[in-house]
Amino acid sequence: MALFSSKPKEAAPSLPVHVGIIMDGNGRWAKKRGLPRKAGHVEGAKTFRTIVRYCSEVGIKYLTVYAFSTENWKRPSDEVSALMKLFKSYLEEAITDFRDDNIVIRFIGDKSGFSPELQKLMDDNEECARDRSGMVLNIAMNYGSRDEIVRAVKSISRDVKSGALGEDDINAELISSRLYTAGQPDPDLIIRPSGEYRISNFMLWQSAYTEFVIMNKLWPDFKKSDLDEALAIYAQRSRRYGGV
Ligand code: FPP
Repeated sequence: MALFSSKPKEAAPSLPVHVGIIMDGNGRWAKKRGLPRKAGHVEGAKTFRTIVRYCSEVGIKYLTVYAFSTENWKRPSDEVSALMKLFKSYLEEAITDFRDDNIVIRFIGDKSGFSPELQKLMDDNEECARDRSGMVLNIAMNYGSRDEIVRAVKSISRDVKSGALGEDDINAELISSRLYTAGQPDPDLIIRPSGEYRISNFMLWQSAYTEFVIMNKLWPDFKKSDLDEALAIYAQRSRRYGGV
């Protein structure tokens, strides 16, 4: 059940173009069952696959999922290594798995933090999906929005220093164009399962006018019907972008 639903004023275009999902609650799902946290991630990965496909089926054009943050390295080493194993096996399968769905896979975040093997799998996935034309799936791995913004600022300041850009060239569009999501529309809707009311360093710049839907469901329990519910709530929202 969603914890927030706003009263309609002007209906938003009924289907969001870009959806973000903070896949949260794997650990609690496992704890409730007396299982190790990694068991929750295994279930979460199954949900990931189902929901990615479903988003593509319902006509979402861009989906960004938060799989591993720049802060997640602080977790116990056995949990981090279980996640790396899971990413490896999923990315091996994803090369062919999403082919029939025509899904374009992209990774956002600092790939260099991962093992060479995982980095190659990410590159291979992106390469294989290059000619596809369906939904763009951004998998945020070793992603932190503050880090992303710092990188953008550094890249702009290098250009200012070299004279390629002047101070007056710096505007919101330029900053957007230096983020990992360059060229993509900002998310219309961000869904956070597990009932937490936090943004957790996810798409801070891009979410200036994003609609949030918090669902009181742990990610491994998240079903297609929960996505339907989030989309229905979104469709009732009035988006005014600071206007009236
Ligand atoms: C947050 O739940 C979840 C993660 C840090 C990992 C998300 C990863 C997956 C769902 C695996 C699938 C992804 C791919 C790309 C195959 P949590 O552990 O913080 O849960 P808690 O808040 O209940 O402890």
